[in-house]
Amino acid sequence: MGLGHLITLEGGEGAGKSTQMRHMEAWLHDKGYNVLTTREPGGTPGAEAVRHAVLSGGAKQYGTIAEAILFAAARADNVQNVIRPALEAGKVVICDRYLDSSRVYQGVTGGVPSEILEPLQRAVTEGGTPNLTLIFDIDPVEGLKRAAKVWAEDGPDRYEQDKLDQQHARRQAFLDIAAQEPHRCVVIDASASEEQVRVAVQNALSAYFERSEAA
Ligand code: TYD
Repeated sequence: MGLGHLITLEGGEGAGKSTQMRHMEAWLHDKGYNVLTTREPGGTPGAEAVRHAVLSGGAKQYGTIAEAILFAAARADNVQNVIRPALEAGKVVICDRYLDSSRVYQGVTGGVPSEILEPLQRAVTEGGTPNLTLIFDIDPVEGLKRAAKVWAEDGPDRYEQDKLDQQHARRQAFLDIAAQEPHRCVVIDASASEEQVRVAVQNALSAYFERSEAA
């Protein structure tokens, strides 16, 4: 999907992806890369509206297939209007959550069969799979404790409210994806300090860019 690089950040709740995304952006910018950051669900006005509908829990009553379709609709808009044009312009795109979140949240713990999910993902991502995926791994008990610090008066969202066994299943599902796709995925120990995680992320980025420049 163009000359750029698509890097996605994945993992459970409260793993510190957003903070690390800011560090990544600054580091890549210093190295001379043209960087664009986005998040899912979101990234465009339409997708942000879908974000509100799903994360408020408003769409839960329609079932997990409907939610998967909503996430896919948000992704289609973000890919078409933000991600694809940026990749075609040769940028490094960092996306906070992407298709592995659908595989894990809607597929593994939502029970949406892969015969439905995978063609949907192929259609909306226009075949564009990420070049590099960083999986931020943390014990869900610790992650939810961290996430709770930023809930303020809104309280937990639709997925943060799910029971701990589901959060553990999601952690395992992300690790399974990493094991199945070792060329694309790097697992980052997100329980370490912000500084240690920052260094681990930089090492993963350096290795990726060295590899892709050598290719
Ligand atoms: P967000 O507040 O961005 O969570 P986080 O800070 O943990 O990334 O909320 C995104 C939520 O939406 C998160 O619980 C995961 C869920 N989600 C899906 O279930 N499917 C998807 O395809 C995406 C992109 C996110």
